[in-house]
Amino acid sequence: MRALITGGKGFVGQWLSAHLKDRGDDVAIIDLETDVADGAAVRRVMSDVRPDAVYHLAAMTHVGDSWEHPSQVLRVNVLGTAEILAAARAIPELPRVLVVSSAEVYGVVGTDQLPLDEHTATLPASPYAASKLAAEAVALQAWRGYGQPVMVVRPFNHIGPGQSPNFFVPALAKRIVEARRAGACTGPSGRRAQTAGRRNAAPGDDGMVAGHPPRDNARRCPRLVGGGLTASVVCGDAVVRLRRSCVGGSGSAPRGPARGPWWSAG
Ligand SMILES: NC(=O)c1ccc[n+]([C@@H]2O[C@H](COP(=O)([O-])OP(=O)(O)OC[C@H]3O[C@@H](n4cnc5c(N)ncnc54)[C@H](O)[C@@H]3O)[C@@H](O)[C@H]2O)c1
Repeated sequence: MRALITGGKGFVGQWLSAHLKDRGDDVAIIDLETDVADGAAVRRVMSDVRPDAVYHLAAMTHVGDSWEHPSQVLRVNVLGTAEILAAARAIPELPRVLVVSSAEVYGVVGTDQLPLDEHTATLPASPYAASKLAAEAVALQAWRGYGQPVMVVRPFNHIGPGQSPNFFVPALAKRIVEARRAGACTGPSGRRAQTAGRRNAAPGDDGMVAGHPPRDNARRCPRLVGGGLTASVVCGDAVVRLRRSCVGGSGSAPRGPARGPWWSAG
């Protein structure tokens, strides 16, 4: 199968590309060099590659930054999706398009609403979340209106090697590694990570979003929980593991005097 991955140089795209190649697929990727919101450029790529399947991952993905650039986020995430779908409709293969949305579309969710599913109300709270919900609407309209084969998914936060250190867990991991290398396992010292640790990383804090460090204004960092497996479970676990890699033992906060604000995370 011939696959086209948009945003193929990103965190998920690199893993997906490797996975598809392992499976024997012929994989083409595009990233920033082909702006997905540029219809002509996207149409050119689509007619060159002639994919059977399109994995549309390209997006402005940083929730925190989306508050600073809402129009750009809408342009890339919504118009980009529309252009990808239109270009896919224009080739004879009529490839199936996977549109990757986000669980952020649910907005602030109470634990009484878990597990979340497709029928849960969507109440996007950030520009990023709004853009993802709008992109979903564009994708589903293509299916209803043009009969285009489209799938929409709403992943919850995932973490792992290759994720940009602009996101919370890799930022934390990077700081721990740096601290270990320096021989002083004192935890992160940067203000941003400290703030993130205190505000968002407490294991058991149902409201944390793994994918973005908080902004100064807490109201701009909407709280989100995942579905059956909440984001806090995943990230709480990640934080404990990261700590364990640094201090050994259970991963709980070290005894004795606090070693910096990060350790007060819980
Ligand atoms: N990682 C997660 O936890 C998570 C959770 C839910 C949803 N998602 C969604 O999954 C998809 C992949 O996420 P990721 O973690 O790999 O993000 P990422 O930021 O690592 O990758 C996104 C890629 O899109 C590219 N891109 C941005 N603007 C572009 C443009 N105008 N034209 C072409 N390419 C552009 C970026 O250069 C980047 O390589 C995104 O749509 C994201 O919103 C991710």
